[in-house]
Amino acid sequence: HTGKGQESMEKLIRQNAFERDRFYYDEFPENFGWGTATAAYQIEGGWNAAGKGESVWDDFTHRMPCWFLRNQTGDVTCDSYHKFDDDLAIIKELGLSHYRFSISWSRIFPDGKNTSGPLPDGVRYYNEVINKLLAANVEPMVTLFHWDLPQALQDEFGGFNSSEVVPHFLNYADFCFRTFGDRVKYWFTFNEPYSYCMLGHGLGVSAPGKCVDWLNLSNNFGDRGEGVYYAAHSIIKSHAQAYHIYNNTYRQTQQGQIGITLNTNWVEPSEATDLDHIEASQRSLAFSTGWFAEPIFNSGDYPDVMRWNVGNRSEYYNVNPDRLPKFTKKEKELNKATSDFFGLNHYTSNLIVPCSYYPVDGPTYDSDQVSLSSEKGIFAFLTHKGLSIQWPGSASSWLYQVPWGIRKLLIWIKRTYGDPVVYITENGISEHDYDGLEDDIRVNYYKDYIDEVLKAINEDDVKVKGYTAWSLMDNFEWAEGYSERFGLHWVNFTDPERPRIPKKSASYYKSLAESG
Ligand code: NOJ
Repeated sequence: HTGKGQESMEKLIRQNAFERDRFYYDEFPENFGWGTATAAYQIEGGWNAAGKGESVWDDFTHRMPCWFLRNQTGDVTCDSYHKFDDDLAIIKELGLSHYRFSISWSRIFPDGKNTSGPLPDGVRYYNEVINKLLAANVEPMVTLFHWDLPQALQDEFGGFNSSEVVPHFLNYADFCFRTFGDRVKYWFTFNEPYSYCMLGHGLGVSAPGKCVDWLNLSNNFGDRGEGVYYAAHSIIKSHAQAYHIYNNTYRQTQQGQIGITLNTNWVEPSEATDLDHIEASQRSLAFSTGWFAEPIFNSGDYPDVMRWNVGNRSEYYNVNPDRLPKFTKKEKELNKATSDFFGLNHYTSNLIVPCSYYPVDGPTYDSDQVSLSSEKGIFAFLTHKGLSIQWPGSASSWLYQVPWGIRKLLIWIKRTYGDPVVYITENGISEHDYDGLEDDIRVNYYKDYIDEVLKAINEDDVKVKGYTAWSLMDNFEWAEGYSERFGLHWVNFTDPERPRIPKKSASYYKSLAESG
């Protein structure tokens, strides 16, 4: 089957035997990293404490409060800015080896620039977080950008829409390497740039709230479909240059690793044996994951399917046919091989049909890709609804439980991007506000997904080296406010003390990680 002879035959026999019993019986490697993950805006609060500048999320939640369920904001949320010791206590109690969190750029540089120097209190806060983690034997994994761009850069340049933001990001990244890099050995430049661009610059449902101006109203709120691609373009440039700064200036002395975290759904063809469907699924993966992964892990440039679909055509009214910016030859070289690992956020899978099979008004070419790029009007992604397959859901409309999807995805990443080391930087499931501490749904989700990760390691030789569950505790779930809870710990958001209470899944995850 794999060409490796007797040994792999035995493995297969073993695997089949245990699959009958549903659980795969094997162990994670001794040195596998186990942790939990969070992000600054979602947990910190202290939105204007000690001189912190406004971020696009502060602005968005304050300016458009009606957008959010019950006018919720991240102004206080878990209040981790004042209560990191409470976070530390539950991190210690879980007994895990890693903790992934993000730095809030405007807590260090309030206007995003180096004009007035770093804010002492912001620097103190992150130093304290890092030092306390290390003292507790927990390895910090730090994300530089988890969506909270300083608002001043949004106001001045239109945020990542403009490449003028790039030098400011580099200055901030350089400062973080210089200041914290003696102790931080895992850096993530950007978290889920796909989501940031799509939700914030394509659909407008997240900060900074920009979207395509479909009706050509020229109201300064939207654009002709370029915005989402320009934002991604500056992000890729920022990432690549930050990587080179680390590589050239800090790697030798600090001995850390640096990379990027991408979000990817597995895309399953709705007709598993039909070539058109299989190709549609491959195109979809190549377009969505490949938007960032192709330049960074492979060619230095955007995937072919993207250049074809949005680089030179559109059949949509008012959408710029030439909306994909181009990298210069030199930039392509700079983009290549700029991630020491593949940071993977994964939650769910989608079913896909090729557009030619889907009778809707509009273009009939392979526009299943176009729909991904915020070019609404066509859709090719289907959830389980309307099809015969029934996948169990969650509190989030987009999140279906498809444990085998993560294994297929890991194999696809291995094959497509040169067998990289993988850190699963997020994985988890949401429950409703009113669900309680007996979160069997989450226990089962982790059990089943982590089981599939183990198969990918032991049976498919995917180099997964660590896993940080989303999330340590319930927090501000962006446009969904506090209505979707992803935590291993329950947070009471009406109590000023914000107690963190372990759910059933916390002790399950603890024992799983402990025993491997
Ligand atoms: C991915 C994002 O990185 C995180 O911020 C978010 O809360 C989770 N997905 C759940 O939607």
